[in-house]
Amino acid sequence: MQVLDDALSVQSDPQGLMTLALTITQKYAVARDIYAFELVAAQQKTLPAFTPGAHIRVRTPNGELRKYSLCNSPDDAGRYVITVKRDAHGRGGSVSLVDDTVPGQTLLAQPPDNAFALVEDPRRLIFIAGGIGITPMLSMIRSLGDDSTIPWSLYYLTHDEQGTAYRELLSAPSYAGHVTLHHSGSRHDHFDLWPVLEKPNQGHVYCCGPRKLMVDVRDMSGHWSSSRIHFESFLEGGEKKPDDRPFTVTLSHSGRTLAIPVGQSILEVLRNAGVNVPYSCESGTCGTCRTHLLQGDADHRDMVLMPEEKGDQIMVCVSRAKSDNLVLDW
Ligand code: FES
Repeated sequence: MQVLDDALSVQSDPQGLMTLALTITQKYAVARDIYAFELVAAQQKTLPAFTPGAHIRVRTPNGELRKYSLCNSPDDAGRYVITVKRDAHGRGGSVSLVDDTVPGQTLLAQPPDNAFALVEDPRRLIFIAGGIGITPMLSMIRSLGDDSTIPWSLYYLTHDEQGTAYRELLSAPSYAGHVTLHHSGSRHDHFDLWPVLEKPNQGHVYCCGPRKLMVDVRDMSGHWSSSRIHFESFLEGGEKKPDDRPFTVTLSHSGRTLAIPVGQSILEVLRNAGVNVPYSCESGTCGTCRTHLLQGDADHRDMVLMPEEKGDQIMVCVSRAKSDNLVLDW
């Protein structure tokens, strides 16, 4: 992959991580407050390939780094499509991307990565999406094609029709029998996923959406093998809570103690201190940053650990501490 060395990348990316320059060719609404962006290579000859479920991290015009799933088919060489929900109550990145960009503009991004990879299980694929969580499912479904021999089902849960991204596409006759669209609406008409998950280990389950949906799916699928249940979250660094407080971590190998302030994850602090912690999703869903917890009481915020693992393990990308100090096996 060609590393950009133009003024744009140097000025906007002092760490040199944003090695892709992408030009916005099209930007259009796909539902209320939800916009698709079609992106092509601005300077590189080709774009790096990606696999279903992959994401890219994009530098938004206001300087934030945001993770977006690629929604097009991996066979669709030469372009990436991301879909962005303009979240007026978020941290500002999505509003900036939607409000402050026009076609023709260049964005810097990191190459595709995938912490939500599709296992083509011939038994069955079950996709459960809530709201904007549909985005990684789109590239998965597209990669299966119209003549897939693998049975698959999508349960796409949204508040209402107008807020349902790609509603027309997913209502097409070619998806009949595969796709269930459910709008909870103002009546909070809850969709019961238990019949979908009741029989364990029937293929693989992919879930992306609001934390409540993912927690419900995790709780309902406790009788499945954990390797068959996959989650994706865009909340990098984890959920922020009003009562978050600072704490310290002590590294058992060196004896160093590091302060974890509010607003920074343990992983970020460890990385900045030169500790080489493996990581991928940074949202508590992939399991890569699993770390032995030797002492202290963790505030677990991940979707990975089983109840019996929570006493002596921690996902440092999202979890915090209930005690003043945690001792980690680093
Ligand atoms: S990096 Fe994926 S769970 Fe922490």
